[in-house]
Amino acid sequence: MSSASSPRTRIAGVGAYAPEKILTNAALEALVDTTDEWIRERTGIRERHIAADGETTSDMALVAAKRALVAANLEPSDLDMIIVGTVTSDTIFPACAAHLQHKLGAKGIPSFDVSAACAGFMYAMSIGDRFIGSGSHKNILVVGVERLSSVTNWEDRGTCVLFGDGAGAAVLSPSRGDGAGILSTRMHTDGSLTESLLIRAGGSREPTTPELIAGGHTKIKMIGSDIFKHAVRNLTSASLDAVKDAGMELADVDWIIPHQANMRIISQVAARLKVPQEKLVLNIERYGNTSSASIPLAWNEAIQDGRIKPGQTVLACALGGGVSWASALIRM
Ligand code: UT7
Repeated sequence: MSSASSPRTRIAGVGAYAPEKILTNAALEALVDTTDEWIRERTGIRERHIAADGETTSDMALVAAKRALVAANLEPSDLDMIIVGTVTSDTIFPACAAHLQHKLGAKGIPSFDVSAACAGFMYAMSIGDRFIGSGSHKNILVVGVERLSSVTNWEDRGTCVLFGDGAGAAVLSPSRGDGAGILSTRMHTDGSLTESLLIRAGGSREPTTPELIAGGHTKIKMIGSDIFKHAVRNLTSASLDAVKDAGMELADVDWIIPHQANMRIISQVAARLKVPQEKLVLNIERYGNTSSASIPLAWNEAIQDGRIKPGQTVLACALGGGVSWASALIRM
């Protein structure tokens, strides 16, 4: 938990990127036994973006990062740290952040990944906030990026209809003392639920074998109903906690950016929080679940189209594999 009555970290700029190629529900009907109607009614998703052949996770992160730097009026040489939330790095190691740092030309600065699945961006932002707050770093690039299409089992209708690819980034800088910035953050993990959402094979527990590949175990597996239940409960409590930590009320919040995993989860969280639908920033219909890219993609969209304005308060919350979840309250 962290809280701050006056923010130590401001959001200097936000940027995002989604690949050009769009995969519609109709196209998925041709791949697996599903229907556009089922996907829309059970998830709220109509289409998702899919990376081009050869387009890597760090390629997507690079575009989002450059856009965030432009918004912050900074150059890559102004950065002194890169933190990437992702579970689909270009390589198992080194980190996606290392690939991104090289492409940005920001040689020498510490660059590392955070593995917190869909909460990855929120974790990265929270960690970056601590470094800025300590005074040791001035401009930190935090990224949420995922190329889930490369770890999706395209024969599993229970998961392949959900996910999409994308990237989002924010530059964190020291607060200017005008009240704008990160007011509070929360991070949590419940490691008893690791088997409910995971890629089973390819790690030290079960190194890849032809049998594991054939069984689909190098791709995402999810017990959707388990995750659903925990998502509703934990996203609600983490949202309330972030607001309470900042000494504010939910009524003071202008916008809520929930992780875009399932419209039914989002609606249930909103109902429990008693917040009207109009306060929600939603783009699940067009992007599906982009894991750690979900929050910054939606955030960027609402800044770009003028919904989120300077001085307004934004509450973001996300939950994913681990299960790990996090929330943050930010004044723009
Ligand atoms: O971002 C990380 C966090 N992830 C999440 O938050 C996801 C959380 N979970 C969910 O969003 C939902 O659990 C799902 C969307 C994954 C599934 O929705 P559900 O309402 O929980 O469905 P279900 O898994 O209970 O399945 C209901 C039925 C089953 O058929 P039977 O057994 O009742 O005959 C499934 O086989 O729906 C069937 N089904 C489908 N039917 C058509 C599952 N997927 C599909 C599909 N098309 N794509």
